[in-house]
Amino acid sequence: MSRIFFDAASHTLLLTTPATSYALRIDAEGAPRHLHWGAPLTVEQATALPTYDGLTSSFASTSGEEINVEGGPRFGVPSLLVRYANGARGVEWHYEGHEITDGSELHIHLRDQHYPLGCTLHYAVHDDSDIIERSLTVRHLGTADEDGPIEMLRCDAAVWSIPSRSGTRMTHTVGQWTGETQLRRTEAPYAETTFTSRRGVSGHFGNPWLMVDAGDATETHGDVWSTVLAWSGSWRITAHRDHTGGPFTVAGGGGHDGISRRIQPGESHRTPVFAGQFSQGGFGAASRGWHAYIANHVLPHPDEPRPVIYNSWEATGWHVTPHGQRALADRAADLGVELFVVDDGWFGQRTNDRAGLGDWHPNPEHFPDGLGPLVDLVRRLGMGFGLWVEPEMTNPDSDLYRRHPDWVLHMPHRRRTELRHQLVLNFAREDVTEWAYKWLDRLVAQHTIDYLKWDMNRAFTEAGWPGHPDGERLWTDHTRGVYAVIDRLRHAHPGLRIEGCAGGGGRADLGMLARTDQTWISDNTDAVDRITIQHGYSQIYPARTMSAWVTDSPNPHTGRTTPLPYRFHIAMTGALGIGGDLSHWSQPELDEARELVALYKSIRPVVQFGRQYRLEDAVQYMADDRLVVIAWGHDRDLPLNGLSLDDVYVDELTGAEHHAANLLTRGLPLHLGGGDRPSAVVRLTKQ
Ligand code: GLA
Repeated sequence: MSRIFFDAASHTLLLTTPATSYALRIDAEGAPRHLHWGAPLTVEQATALPTYDGLTSSFASTSGEEINVEGGPRFGVPSLLVRYANGARGVEWHYEGHEITDGSELHIHLRDQHYPLGCTLHYAVHDDSDIIERSLTVRHLGTADEDGPIEMLRCDAAVWSIPSRSGTRMTHTVGQWTGETQLRRTEAPYAETTFTSRRGVSGHFGNPWLMVDAGDATETHGDVWSTVLAWSGSWRITAHRDHTGGPFTVAGGGGHDGISRRIQPGESHRTPVFAGQFSQGGFGAASRGWHAYIANHVLPHPDEPRPVIYNSWEATGWHVTPHGQRALADRAADLGVELFVVDDGWFGQRTNDRAGLGDWHPNPEHFPDGLGPLVDLVRRLGMGFGLWVEPEMTNPDSDLYRRHPDWVLHMPHRRRTELRHQLVLNFAREDVTEWAYKWLDRLVAQHTIDYLKWDMNRAFTEAGWPGHPDGERLWTDHTRGVYAVIDRLRHAHPGLRIEGCAGGGGRADLGMLARTDQTWISDNTDAVDRITIQHGYSQIYPARTMSAWVTDSPNPHTGRTTPLPYRFHIAMTGALGIGGDLSHWSQPELDEARELVALYKSIRPVVQFGRQYRLEDAVQYMADDRLVVIAWGHDRDLPLNGLSLDDVYVDELTGAEHHAANLLTRGLPLHLGGGDRPSAVVRLTKQ
C-alpha cells in the first residue's frame, strides 16, 4: 500500500502515516512549500490547502518552506546557506522532479537555476509509526575544470513547520555532567531560539530534540509535535516563533554556527536524519511513539533482553587488579548478574586519569598474563565479559601520543587544551580510524569479548586539522569516523554488544543508538537524582536502552543514604545493573540483592519490551497480559493509564483482583511500607 500520493494538477504531495498526514506543494517557482503536518487528510483536502504566504504577500519571517534558503524576500532561519566560488550566495530553485519508492520514500530533486548546486529532500514513512524521517543531500554538479568548491555555511536536515497557536510551548532538556536530561517546558518567545552543542558530541547540556505544543498538552492529552535529530556530533536546532503569522518552524541538523564545509565538484553531502512525529494523546503518547520507532527502526537488536550487568567503576576506580576483580565477579555471579564489565584502568599505565589512554594493552604489572585468566574466570562463573574503552582519546602521557602527536585535533600556534588530562584523536583521519579498528578488532577477537562500554570523556577544543584544505569538515567526519569504526566492528563480531557513554550521558542520541545496545545516561548513580534524569531520558528513548546501576549508600557522588530496595527499584525502571563495591556489602544486603535481581528478571520482559506510562512518582509498563508498576513516594491510590475498561487484573503476589475501570479512576492501592524512601514493584496479570 502506498503511503505517498501526488496530485499532478496542483503539484501537491501527501504523506500518510497510520494516524497523521503531512502535505507539501512544489510552487510555480519550483520551491517546496509546506502545507500541513497533523491529523489525517485526504489528497483532495490537502490539494485544497493554500500555501503559507510568507514568500508573497506578507512580511512574515517564517515562510513555510520545506527547506529555507537565502534569496528573495526570505528573512527566516536559512537552513541551507551556501556560498559559491565567485562569492555569490543564495538559491533560486528549479524543480527537477520527484520519485516515490516502495510507496514509503519520497525524494524531491531540486537544483539551483544557475549555480551547480543540486539538492534532494528525502522523506520516509513507515506502516507501524507516525514518525517521518527527513534528510537532505546536497550535490556539487559542476566540473573540476570550471567550478570551484561550494561552501556550506549551514546545512540542516529539514525544517518542520507547525501551525502557530497562542501559548505555543517548547519542551526540551538541559543538563550537565552528573545532571543530564533535566526536562524544561516554557512558552516559546517570539524570536529565534537556538538549541545547540558546539562540543563535537551531542552533549550533556541539551539533548538533540525539541517538542512543541499549543500550551495545552499534558502527559495524557493534547497535540504534540516532536522532532529528534539522529546525530552524535555538534548540532543545532533553531525554533522560530513568528509574530506576523507565519508557521512556527523548527530547523535542525548537524554542525554549529561559524563552522563551514566545502563540497568539491562531483562531491555530495548527506545530512543526518531529523525525524518528526505529530501525536495526539499528550507527551506520554509522543514518548511511546518514539520508543516504538526506536525499537522497530533504530536499534540493532531490539528484541534481545538487556543483561543484568555488573560494572566495576565505582568499586575500584583506576585500581583494577585481577584479585580485586575476581572478588567482585564471585559476588556478582552469586547475585544473578549476567555480564561482568571491567571499567577504566585495565590497560597501559592507566592507574589514574593522567596517563595511558591510547595504549590499549593490559597493564603489564597488574595483568602479566594478559586478560585471559580473568576472562576465563568470569566465564566459568557463568557471566559474559565486557570491557571499557575510550578509543577517541589519548593522554599526552601515553606511548601513542609520543608516537603520533599529530593525530590529535590541534591548531598551529594554539595551545592544546587538556580536559581530564586528555586530547581528542582526529577520527576524521583514516589512518586514525584504521588504527582504532585494528586494536579493537584484535582485542574483541582475542577474548571473544561480549560487550564494550565505548566512552568519550571530553569536548573538542582547538579543533583543527593542519595540512587539510577543508579541515573544518572534521566536525562532521569525526562522528562519521566513530560510526564507521563501530559499524565495522559489529559487522566483524556479530555477537558483540556495545554501551554508548560520554562521561555519562554526553552522547545519548539516535545516531549512537543505531549502533549501540544501551546507553550509560549519567555518572550520577544517586537513586533520587536518577529519577529526574531518567524522566528526561524517557521522553524519547526506551527503557531497554537505559543502563541503570545500583551503587553504594551513602552515594559516592552525593553522600545521600537510601535503602537498598529503593536503589534497586529506581534502577529497575531501565536495564538493571549493579555498580556498588560488593566486597563491602553485608551478607543480609547480598541476600536481599539476590532476591531483587530475581524480581527484576521476572519483570524484565515487561519493563524492557512493554509500553511505558509515566505516572506521578511511578512508572507503569504493559506488555501482553502483564502490567508492572514501579512506585515510590508514599502510600496512596495511584491512577493507572492505558488499560481497557472491561479488563480485570490480578496481583501476582497477593492474588487481589482489580477492575481496570477502578485502576484508571480511583487507582491502584499502593502499600509501599514504612521507613525512609519507601518504594515497591507491583506485578499484575490480566485475567
Ligand atoms: C566516564 C564514564 C564513567 C567511567 C569513567 C571512567 O566518566 O561515564 O562511567 O567509565 O569515565 O574513567
